[in-house]
Amino acid sequence: MELGIFGKRVLVTGGTRGLGKTVVLALAKGGARVVTCHHSAGAAADDLSRELKELGDQHHVVRADVTAEDDVQRLAGVCKEAFGGLDVVINNVGVVGEAPVGELSAEEWSRVLDTNLTAHFLVTQASLPLLAEGGSVINIGASAALRGRAATAHYTASKAALIGLTKSLAKELGPRGIRINTIAPGVIDKGGDLGPPPQMRERLAKMTALGRLGTTDDVAGAVLFFAGDLSRYITGTTLNVDGGI
Ligand SMILES: NC(=O)c1ccc[n+]([C@@H]2O[C@H](COP(=O)([O-])OP(=O)(O)OC[C@H]3O[C@@H](n4cnc5c(N)ncnc54)[C@H](OP(=O)(O)O)[C@@H]3O)[C@@H](O)[C@H]2O)c1
Repeated sequence: MELGIFGKRVLVTGGTRGLGKTVVLALAKGGARVVTCHHSAGAAADDLSRELKELGDQHHVVRADVTAEDDVQRLAGVCKEAFGGLDVVINNVGVVGEAPVGELSAEEWSRVLDTNLTAHFLVTQASLPLLAEGGSVINIGASAALRGRAATAHYTASKAALIGLTKSLAKELGPRGIRINTIAPGVIDKGGDLGPPPQMRERLAKMTALGRLGTTDDVAGAVLFFAGDLSRYITGTTLNVDGGI
């Protein structure tokens, strides 16, 4: 059986760092054509562009804020011009936030909800005219959404809402042959000093059934499964990639 990602036209939001970057490079190495975006100026986007260039000329790194409708339309326009359509959309952008509920400002609530939920809606909606039959939409959630976590009510609320968005759109888009699923990572060690602080790593690892933190490759494996044809009869699901936390 083939993974079935070769030649697929893929949009990945937030592909210049972390999980998104691992996913973009895995797709490109597997023969997919990728458009990805980022928000800030800086070395991360240049580094990714350089790495993608070594894999071929068919990939594009675009600066676009996925919480802004105009930018999302422009991003969809890049996909249309580059590929003529899309087979896979990966809504990966997300931000964390930490504040006890009594100190959580409406502004911070909106920042997290806009980025983790509204952006997924905007990007999915703008991609619909481009998505081919048999297309796959993948939302990156978080397994903490269904467990709850103190001082992150806005984060877990945004990630839990993604599950409802996914399930409803699976019903709505299924007749067009479009699948939509959520991948819910646990605690991921992104390498260097990007994961949880050293004093927390051991404690968090012990909370998992597998006794270790996840890696970006662990998440990318699940993303590739949903992007490819092996998952062609799966829609509306949430797949936890959290080591059994
Ligand atoms: N890391 C974990 O342990 C973990 C656990 C559970 C779930 N997740 C989820 O996995 C996803 C990826 O997380 P991560 O930790 O890999 O993220 P990350 O390292 O912070 O990278 C985020 C990426 O998204 C881009 N981005 C952020 N805001 C954007 C916006 N408004 N418009 C366009 N691009 C934007 C960033 O670009 P710039 O740098 O240019 O802003 C960057 O490329 C998120 O949805 C997160 O909630 C992560």
